Amino acid sequence: MITLKNVIKKYGGKEVLKDLSVDFPDGKTTVILGPSGSGKSTLLRSLDLLVRPESGTLDFGDIKLNYAEPVSKKLSFDIRKKTSMVFQNWNLFPNLTVLQNITTAPMTVLKKSKQETEERARQLLGQVGLAEYADRYPSQLSGGQQQRISICRALAMDPEYVLLDEPTSALDPELETQVLLILEELSKMGQSMIIVTHNMEFARSVADKIVFVENGDILFDGTPDDFFNHPTTRIKDFLSGITFDDSKTLK
Ligand SMILES: Nc1ncnc2c1ncn2[C@@H]1O[C@H](COP(=O)(O)OP(=O)(O)OP(=O)(O)O)[C@@H](O)[C@H]1O
Ligand SMILES: [Mg+2]
Repeated sequence: MITLKNVIKKYGGKEVLKDLSVDFPDGKTTVILGPSGSGKSTLLRSLDLLVRPESGTLDFGDIKLNYAEPVSKKLSFDIRKKTSMVFQNWNLFPNLTVLQNITTAPMTVLKKSKQETEERARQLLGQVGLAEYADRYPSQLSGGQQQRISICRALAMDPEYVLLDEPTSALDPELETQVLLILEELSKMGQSMIIVTHNMEFARSVADKIVFVENGDILFDGTPDDFFNHPTTRIKDFLSGITFDDSKTLK
């Protein structure tokens, strides 16, 4: 379980996370939803210290951290080892093959042997249907395939939690489906995941827990059933605002 308590993050005096407390259960998929600019990426990045909040605590089982205090290199390394982030634009190394993209970090950061990491990488590539692509370069793959590789790269670090920030928003619908099916599979296997997405169908079918963020506050924290089937007025508005409705005009 990851627990955040009373987290405050400011940019230029403006609070973008406002005394926020939330937990992310083990072995479950938590989906973070909310309008643009609400603080979703900031929240996710606070978990692996890509963003440093001014105050609050992070409790990650055996690791506890007070954001207001200096963080030692060791502590930051230990936290980062427990998480792997998958970004919107996959960011694979263009000069490395698919296999090398996956094996580099486990070999250099975790000091694992070449043989062990390559075996694991090939197994992961098989899992995402890309076993044949090990020796290609990223530029020879579609966006959806590259994103599947970047999921393999994250999993190769054996993280406790995989963090995904809008993993499919740069993909067209068909490629998006390929990636979502893999995430669904991982979710069923009990991989702990925290996913920021704008895809409501995916959230509804895969989430064990929904966290709805607006203006740096958590407005909802509960089950997908409650979120989608018993929405508050605000959530109803949010849900209707993001479905395409040509009877609406731009405000
Ligand atoms: N590095 C930064 N410097 C200053 N302000 C920032 C920075 N990063 C984010 N912000 C501001 O913090 C707020 C929250 O941003 P954040 O990126 O977390 O939103 P988000 O919910 O992920 O939005 P989106 O759905 O568009 O990705 C926004 O008002 C944003 O402008
Ligand atoms: Mg974001």
